[in-house]
Amino acid sequence: MRSHFCGLVTEAMLGQSVTLCGWADVARNLGGVCFIDLRDHEGIVQVVAEPDNPAFATAAEVGYEYCLKVTGTVRARHSVNDKIKTGQVEVVAEKIEILNKSDPLPFYNHENPGEDIRLRYRYLDLRRPEMQKMMRKRIALVQALRRFLDARGFQDIETPILTKATPEGARDYLVPSRVHPGEFFALPQSPQLFKQLLMMAGMDRYYQIARCFRDEDLRADRQPEFTQLDMEFAFITERDIQDFVEDMIRQVFKEVQDVELANPFPRMTYAETMRRYGSDKPDLRIDLELIDIAELVKNCEFKVFTDWASHEEGRVAGLRIPSGGTLSRKQIDDLAAYCAKYGAKGLAYMKVEDVSKGREGVNSPISKFLDDATLQSILANTQAQSGDIIFFGAGSWKTVCDFMGALRLKVAKDLKLVKDVWAPMWVTDFPMFEWDEEENRYAALHHPFTAPKVDDVNDLVANAKTAVSRGYDMVLNGNEIGGGSVRIHRSDMQSTVFDLLGISKEEAQTKFGFLLEALKYGAPPHGGIAFGIDRISALMAGTESIRDVIAFPKTASAQCLLTSAPSKIPDKQLAELHVKVREPK
Ligand code: AMO
Ligand code: AMP
Repeated sequence: MRSHFCGLVTEAMLGQSVTLCGWADVARNLGGVCFIDLRDHEGIVQVVAEPDNPAFATAAEVGYEYCLKVTGTVRARHSVNDKIKTGQVEVVAEKIEILNKSDPLPFYNHENPGEDIRLRYRYLDLRRPEMQKMMRKRIALVQALRRFLDARGFQDIETPILTKATPEGARDYLVPSRVHPGEFFALPQSPQLFKQLLMMAGMDRYYQIARCFRDEDLRADRQPEFTQLDMEFAFITERDIQDFVEDMIRQVFKEVQDVELANPFPRMTYAETMRRYGSDKPDLRIDLELIDIAELVKNCEFKVFTDWASHEEGRVAGLRIPSGGTLSRKQIDDLAAYCAKYGAKGLAYMKVEDVSKGREGVNSPISKFLDDATLQSILANTQAQSGDIIFFGAGSWKTVCDFMGALRLKVAKDLKLVKDVWAPMWVTDFPMFEWDEEENRYAALHHPFTAPKVDDVNDLVANAKTAVSRGYDMVLNGNEIGGGSVRIHRSDMQSTVFDLLGISKEEAQTKFGFLLEALKYGAPPHGGIAFGIDRISALMAGTESIRDVIAFPKTASAQCLLTSAPSKIPDKQLAELHVKVREPK
């Protein structure tokens, strides 16, 4: 139908006849002459229809987003437009064919009408050059990853979508079986168990661009279906896996983003990241760090501090914000309210007006509870300078990490303390288990197939509370972009971990019998990792939401506004599936 793409018409083509197809981005009828900005996936070129030409009559009818085929001659443009690639030229129309009209648009191409409208008319939203650009980032990322892995002998193997539950800590999406009444498939939360079975099957190095399904509470960086680059290696240690994928990520950032990431990436244990940043995915673009002050305040007069300072599971921490003294009372109150959402019972602070004056130089609701020595030691330990503010958090270790970690991010963003750099890192040495208060049992911090550092099952049972796993996460600018581990490859260890997780022998057999059995036939040591393609694409595209790099994403309430899914199913179809709906009360 066409000879060239709109966005690729250049000065080299002056005098040449071209046929272009695309959409009328803008159509202006200036009486004497019609201008149409014709747009395709490569960009925009200006089409001119002059009154002495038969194309003029058609051009005059063209409206926004009409779909057109234009034949004409390339000529130099009178008024050059530096904003577009084709700005030096225009196409003088000889023939304009309206391939399809467009109804008046629900929103114009150049405006952002709010996400609900965009998702409802996603095909129009995706026509916007901004969206095309973001989608292209994702495509380039996936291509670069595939190139890297294909060149290194990785085998791309598909794993089932209709399968049995593979737990990754979320609820399953279920699919009823018509031929087995009352039985259900689960959509995979990840290919975890299949990739492990592939290692046991001697495939050695596997990867897959895999769709994963998780019915969980959604946020900007979470979707109910999302895409992983899923990888697994046989006969390998965690350090070899990390080094390999670190090279891969560096390479794709070089290729796709023209960015040189650090070599090597900084590495920190889970304990260190929690202590310094209150988070297991710290944003290292921000220099602020938490300082533990329990030792300094354990004997002071402020009961909240002393109680938590002496509590076995407590934490008292300070966060110094350089030049944060400019924060107003209102801003501080807002920050306290923000921290309350993360469980804070209060947010004490100290404005350091003149550090040389000690007590006289600070302004703080808690200074009256601190003797001179304690106050001085806080100033010294936090390295406070005149003009700073120090925030304080006291509470359970977990709560203080949560709210002080969140405060660190919030203040850095508000006060523009986030550096314009790329900050990748590894977090290692995660705890094996976390205690689930509600269920009164251990839960796996990663997933139940992650190996502990100890080899001996008795050792693990005796020290479960403090056991460290062979799991690791890759973090980029405060986002967890990948997570993996060395796996358990012995049946006795896997059974012991199920046991510790409160999974009964029977339940383990019903749910994971096939895995326990497979582990008995010479399963090799193996491990791997999965990267969040959506999250990496979003970072590369410079957008806050992974929805911008997914062609047809779901809303925060897990709906597709374009197709209106999920939707009700006729009774007849439900009956075939042996399913009866229980309406919520
Ligand atoms: P994990 O659950 O850590 O590990 O997932 C790996 C990576 O996938 C991305 N991710 C998500 N992206 C968008 N929406 C979601 N709801 C979502 N959930 C996770 C994150 C995360 O780092 N089977 C293991 C991997 C392994 O052990 O090899 C797994 O799925 O970027
Ligand atoms: P109060 O004596 O309760 O008014 O508290 C004095 C100051 O301590 C206020 O600024 C509170 O916000 C702060 N505060 C109270 N509880 C905590 C806590 N758990 N962690 C940090 N600051 C707190």
